[in-house]
Amino acid sequence: MIRVAGLSKTFSSGWLHKRSLRAVHNISLEIAPGETLGLIGESGCGKSTLSRLLLKLLPADPGGHIVFNGHDISNFTMKQMQPLRRQMQILFQHPDSAFNPRQTILRSLMEPITLHRLMDRGAGEAKILELLELVGLHRDLLYRYPHQISGGQIQRVVIARSLTLEPKLLILDEPTSMLDVSVQAQVIELLQHIQKQYRMAYLFISHDLDLVRHTSHRIAVMHKGCLVEQGNSEAVWEQPEHPYTQQLTQAFKAFSSIMKP
Ligand SMILES: Nc1ncnc2c1ncn2[C@@H]1O[C@H](COP(=O)(O)OP(=O)(O)OP(=O)(O)O)[C@@H](O)[C@H]1O
Ligand SMILES: [Mg+2]
Repeated sequence: MIRVAGLSKTFSSGWLHKRSLRAVHNISLEIAPGETLGLIGESGCGKSTLSRLLLKLLPADPGGHIVFNGHDISNFTMKQMQPLRRQMQILFQHPDSAFNPRQTILRSLMEPITLHRLMDRGAGEAKILELLELVGLHRDLLYRYPHQISGGQIQRVVIARSLTLEPKLLILDEPTSMLDVSVQAQVIELLQHIQKQYRMAYLFISHDLDLVRHTSHRIAVMHKGCLVEQGNSEAVWEQPEHPYTQQLTQAFKAFSSIMKP
């Protein structure tokens, strides 16, 4: 579904004394339809930046390549990206800021449909009811405001909204970081169910290796802007090759053995 090669991003900051920060360096990866690639790495290693590069929400440094669903979009302009936008969606890290507090949930859910002029109002509302059922929410929620529903419900609404456009690639940036463990499990199960139904490609970003290995077919490990290791989830967990991955898996294994009764 998506294949990228040699993707880099350097940020520059400062006015008089320009400083540059290499947030993402020479990254190549691919995700097949129906597959989940887990992206793991410490805070600040460049995961969210990489996800923005994949979706071309942020311009990459010259030289990299992005092929999405057979289209080479490396040099696409914003206008050329427009028809492809709906096929690539992202669930952002902070769900609370995902909705306008002054709009009802219904209005927020209708927004992508009206923006992309996908269908008329009646058909749009029918679609929303269908998605609400898919994510296990009652239709009464539609007439409430974001502060009137729980964090777990917001997360489901965010998922429903990303599905209104029937994307082929969904980037999940720490999708469950704000949920308690039982709701987290429900949301993950829901995402897996939806993935099977629509054969979507997922990029699942997290710093929780244990969570990633249970949710992803393959894992990519990022460290200081570089991809240091990629492989099948179990292989990376059982036989990590890079010293950073070895450190990470050891830490997680030690933690889970301490937590066992
Ligand atoms: N627009 C920007 N301008 C300058 N620097 C940025 C910008 N966006 C991100 N950075 C820097 O790039 C680096 C990577 O940030 P990024 O948000 O990609 O990390 P992350 O891996 O997603 O971290 P976390 O797990 O905490 O979300 C950080 O040092 C960050 O401060
Ligand atoms: Mg991030």
